[in-house]
Amino acid sequence: MGLRIASVRAVEILDSRGRPTLSVTLNTADGHSVWAGVPSGASTGSGEAVELRDGDKDRYGGKGVLTAVGHVSTEISDALAGRDFTDLAALDEALVDLDGTENKSRLGANAIVGVSMAAARAFAQLAGVPLWRYLTPDGVQPRLPVPHFNVVNGGAHAPNRLDFQEFMIAPVGAPTLAEAVRAGAEVYAALRARLAEAGFATGLGDEGGFAPDIVQPEQVLDTLVAAIGDAGYTAGRDAVAIALDPAASEFHRDGRYHVAGEALSAEEMIDRYAAIVDRYPVWSIEDGLAEDDWDGWVRLTDRLGDRVQIVGDDLLVTNPVVVSRAIERRAGTAALIKVNQIGTVTETLDTMRICRQAGWAQMVSHRSGETADAFIADLATGAGCGQLKTGAPARGERVAKYNRLIEIEADSSLAYGL
Ligand code: PGA
Ligand code: ZN
Repeated sequence: MGLRIASVRAVEILDSRGRPTLSVTLNTADGHSVWAGVPSGASTGSGEAVELRDGDKDRYGGKGVLTAVGHVSTEISDALAGRDFTDLAALDEALVDLDGTENKSRLGANAIVGVSMAAARAFAQLAGVPLWRYLTPDGVQPRLPVPHFNVVNGGAHAPNRLDFQEFMIAPVGAPTLAEAVRAGAEVYAALRARLAEAGFATGLGDEGGFAPDIVQPEQVLDTLVAAIGDAGYTAGRDAVAIALDPAASEFHRDGRYHVAGEALSAEEMIDRYAAIVDRYPVWSIEDGLAEDDWDGWVRLTDRLGDRVQIVGDDLLVTNPVVVSRAIERRAGTAALIKVNQIGTVTETLDTMRICRQAGWAQMVSHRSGETADAFIADLATGAGCGQLKTGAPARGERVAKYNRLIEIEADSSLAYGL
């Protein structure tokens, strides 16, 4: 017996930045109802599936999502209602076929992904298992991922002069997930104290990290290492490590990387990362170069790929075709995984499988605009990839994910770690 859907409904709600997004409710024929909240990015890759916005300047500055909401409640609901689906892959395929475009631009990836996430929950409920268990592929060992706490925000996520977007701490050496969360929160508190003492404002960026008006990335790294020590932990690649997401597409203009007032070539940018890796316990660098600088990516991977994880986000957009190309070209060693970049849960799992088979790592990720939905905590755990980034250990929409991991750990005997 499969899943029989009675109806799907969406409403326009607010994301954590105060912009409209979708809340999707799926009602099954046997009277259950499941929910999903749709995330939304700010420093998006140009190859992402299309997030449909109304463009009506009189509502939310054109960012309303009533068109996408309408697509869920009418066309998608009509197409799914009364049908029997054996698994999520079949349902997601029906959604992709119904949309009919390459990039989900007709119905909107924001409409489609909400239905797909809710449907995953409905299938888990039907199977009587937790969501993470339903999302575990055959032959994969689920495990609790290392949380990557984004504690300093810059770039498109903060109104400061810091060009690098994200500075994360990753308690890779913690004995359990709960202890990793504790380390994250304690370092975050120590960092707040240190910044305040140095006279910096301790206001927060979009992902809940501090947004001090520091210009040099290395000064942030010095402060982070000190804060890790203040909190009583060891800064190190096998203890409390640091991960970076410079989000370089955002500061790449006219063929140059604009960092702290300098205009660097790709080669100079790579030199800068090499020096950072020499000096700090950085274990992972995401989007170190721009999404259209493929040659640079190959050189960056060649130079640093055996010392740090090189993660593609804007470059790869969770797209199985692009990821396959990057694997072939040796552009990167890992993929960032965002469900709404590709638009269905099944395609997301496909991309993760391609990575696994090639020996590539995967880091599941939130978006800078989030809801209280903790779906990605289950996805990261179920897919067994060992890595999740979902912002600071602060702000409700971020801690919802970390708290969900704590609950999964308490209710299971899953191992923790990379
Ligand atoms: P976004 O950024 O959600 O604003 O696109 C997150 C990231 O670059 O990883
Ligand atoms: Zn990124």
